[in-house]
Amino acid sequence: MLGGLLRPLLAVCGLMLVPAAAAVHFNYKNGFYYHDGSNGNGNGEIYFNGVRLYVESPNPSVSATRGSSVTLPCHFHYKPELNEPRRTRVKWSWLPANAVGEPVHPAAMETQVMVAMDNRHRSYGGFRGRVRLRRSAPGDMSLVISELRLNDTGRYRCEVIDGLEDESVTVELELRGVVFPYHSAEGRYHFNFQGAQQACQDQEATLATFEQLFTAWDEGLDWCNAGWLADGTVQYPIMTPRDGCGGADLAPGLRTYGQRHRLLHRFDAFCFSASIKGTVYFLASPTKLNFTEALQACAGNSAHIAKVGQLYAAWRLAGLDRCDAGWLADGSVRYPIVKPRANCGPPQAGVRSFGFPPRHLKFGVYCYR
Ligand SMILES: *[C@@H]1O[C@H](CO)[C@@H](O)[C@H](O)[C@H]1NC(C)=O
Ligand SMILES: *[C@@H]1O[C@H](CO)[C@@H](O)[C@H](O)[C@H]1NC(C)=O
Repeated sequence: MLGGLLRPLLAVCGLMLVPAAAAVHFNYKNGFYYHDGSNGNGNGEIYFNGVRLYVESPNPSVSATRGSSVTLPCHFHYKPELNEPRRTRVKWSWLPANAVGEPVHPAAMETQVMVAMDNRHRSYGGFRGRVRLRRSAPGDMSLVISELRLNDTGRYRCEVIDGLEDESVTVELELRGVVFPYHSAEGRYHFNFQGAQQACQDQEATLATFEQLFTAWDEGLDWCNAGWLADGTVQYPIMTPRDGCGGADLAPGLRTYGQRHRLLHRFDAFCFSASIKGTVYFLASPTKLNFTEALQACAGNSAHIAKVGQLYAAWRLAGLDRCDAGWLADGSVRYPIVKPRANCGPPQAGVRSFGFPPRHLKFGVYCYR
């Protein structure tokens, strides 16, 4: 990113753009003078003609909710200030949080989000039509992304290119959400990597990233079954070290099996679900229902039976608290508790699970509308 300051061709082109006022105090060499042989200090600034380009972001990390709009801040300015504006180009690129594997050079795995020059801009891929530059002031190159999706998380790079050299800052985008462990109706350790991806997607969620699982652990998640993460590793979070869960002597933390074979190895999944547009509610019904009746009851209420990711999101982000077990779309039976109390499971908040009972048994139902 910082290399090539002395590229002769660009230097010559750049010369024509350098305002006289800025150049006056300096000697020329080959018609161009550089203040310093170093290419900036790695903090998003470069030197040319004694003028520095600064690219900055007041928030290196931003969190938002699914479906909303978010602004990733990025500003540039020159010091000393220039009298005439220079022609700058801005490029936003993205390293997805679920980028798989260990890249040799992370920039190689970045994908383009948007490039802009003057008043023209172009956006790419899934961002087309969803991104714009804020431009609320000169030098404001903040990126506004609307209709945020679960898989928009990751590291965004704002790169300002002014003909001579480029400088960049990165902004991390996280979605507020909840991580939940998930296993198949057919039992524990049933999913290969793709199966785990599909299972989360079926529950209105995605495979959790390492950062999301780490945050969940930090907030108290303790789960002694290993699950796939989005990067293809298999891990599990332990708050209270004990035998059978990595050992009683190990410090609390994430236990990892590292990268596993994506086709052959089978584990559970850690899914990530973020805020939802609709509402999840326990359907008032005079009688308890088997699974078929539960599906019909939600449909009769102009709703759908809720998915597991929707129930977790409603519990965690909307405070759904209900001490009644209900069917969910995958055939599991669960209930969400925010304020633990007698006869409603263990003394911690959480979504309680009855697993996948035979479908003729009778429970309530959680619907989503
Ligand atoms: C991200 O999610 C959207 C739907 O929300 C989907 O259409 C798109 O293919 C996903 N992109 C990736 C890279 O998984
Ligand atoms: C649920 O009960 C209905 C009768 O109300 C019955 O027709 C249906 O087969 C039952 N479904 C299951 C899965 O047992």
